[in-house]
Amino acid sequence: MTRLNNKVAIVTGAGQGIGKAIALRLAKEGAIVVATDITGKENETAEEIKKIGGEGMALRLDVTDGKMAEEVAKTVFNKYGHIDILVNNAGIYPFKPFLEMTFEDWYKVINVNLNGVFNVTRAVVPYMVKQKSGRIINIASLAGAVMGFAGLTHYSASKAGIVGFTRALALELARYGITVNAIAPGAISTPGAAAAGSEEQVKMMINIIPMGRLGTPEDIASAVAYLASDEASYITGALIIIDGGWSVT
Ligand code: NAI
Repeated sequence: MTRLNNKVAIVTGAGQGIGKAIALRLAKEGAIVVATDITGKENETAEEIKKIGGEGMALRLDVTDGKMAEEVAKTVFNKYGHIDILVNNAGIYPFKPFLEMTFEDWYKVINVNLNGVFNVTRAVVPYMVKQKSGRIINIASLAGAVMGFAGLTHYSASKAGIVGFTRALALELARYGITVNAIAPGAISTPGAAAAGSEEQVKMMINIIPMGRLGTPEDIASAVAYLASDEASYITGALIIIDGGWSVT
């Protein structure tokens, strides 16, 4: 697979789960992948990329830190000379009933999930504008962006915000040959999701999901690779739902 040959991609939250699968998939398709995270696990992702014959590196990036995002974008541009793909994947989903929600709970989720997307996009877009090309792919969620989800008001607000941001930015950047799209995953089997939900809840979801299974990180990664490729050059401002049919039940 070579459809992303020599494209330079930055993936946030690439230490595990969906972000890691995206990083590996983009590398398999020929992209030079900069895996970023805050846990150190971004180094393991970069190692795995090398093991499969891919190219790239790991950088620490806390998406809540706008200055750090600027540094990362500068480092990547200085090393490779271009930044072609940005995948805003980093996100947290700490369940909390609204009646128990503290200011800290609310601001933390908005800061990572929504301000984080702004911070990193803001840092990368000037490079894409100069080169008059780019692909920005934002990982939203079924929750908030498509359906209501009890226990996740803060998260739902952040993910609905990502969709609004995606649409408005798509309009502003179309003239520069930059596309901006969002993906809304349903229930995906990841370390983060496993920690958040009980086995009971997983069984309940599998019963509801028409495809009869949870999604895999690779189910999301393959859509990201498509949106990042030339084949998707006329798609912008879109929200792609990947949920095994859950939202149409
Ligand atoms: P995960 O918890 O397994 O992995 C998320 C990664 O993001 C971790 O490596 C974590 O260190 C990183 N991260 C957290 N805060 C960060 C920060 N401030 N700066 C940089 N990195 C940070 O999560 P998962 O399940 O892989 O989710 C990835 C994305 O997909 C998130 O945006 C999530 O909201 C979204 N999503 C996940 C679904 C699921 O069912 N797993 C469903 C819908 C959306």
